[in-house]
Amino acid sequence: MLAQEHHEDELIILNAYIIPMLIEIMENKDQVTLLHSSRVQKVINLLIPELIKAKIISQEEVPYLWVSAILHDIGKIFVDDEILLSDKRLNTEEFKNIRYHSERGFRLINQLDLPREILLAIKHHHERWDGKQKGKFPGYPDGLKGEAIPLYARIICIADAFDAMISERPYKDSLSITNAMRIIKENSGKQFDPGLVRIFIKTMKKNKKI
Ligand SMILES: [Fe+2]
Repeated sequence: MLAQEHHEDELIILNAYIIPMLIEIMENKDQVTLLHSSRVQKVINLLIPELIKAKIISQEEVPYLWVSAILHDIGKIFVDDEILLSDKRLNTEEFKNIRYHSERGFRLINQLDLPREILLAIKHHHERWDGKQKGKFPGYPDGLKGEAIPLYARIICIADAFDAMISERPYKDSLSITNAMRIIKENSGKQFDPGLVRIFIKTMKKNKKI
């Protein structure tokens, strides 16, 4: 549940003026990120009724989760085009650069008076449930673990990974929905929050098409 009072005025201004502006900036910078963010938002939309039913979020939180989903990768507007649009496997330095997007996005949106939950979703959507910071898919930026990772970040993390897997990128083929779901299940308790994975799988089975 929201830890602070609602910022309804800020949210209205955000939806009416700031989000469209940020979307235009994202679109101009990189269509792939914008399309990805709107698909993540669609997956979140499917999850919302189940999240409410399980009392993980309340109805009032829905707009906050939407905003978090659409803005989660906003920091990518600061990543160099050669890295963002690269069709090759990135080197260590380039990975470091691209991984800074979550913290950079947080710093940008932190200038607006928004609920902390939205800011923390942007900052922590690449943390891992097991807190692992090494290997092919490390958690970042802070190496948070388990429930120390803010709730919206844990939700977005699953929708984000799912969309990344089913999307084709210049450096990789797309996976089928069934395979992506299998990988998410295999990473339950590792990369992802197990309780949220259960809800995700249940939702996806109900909505065969996205
Ligand atoms: Fe991201």
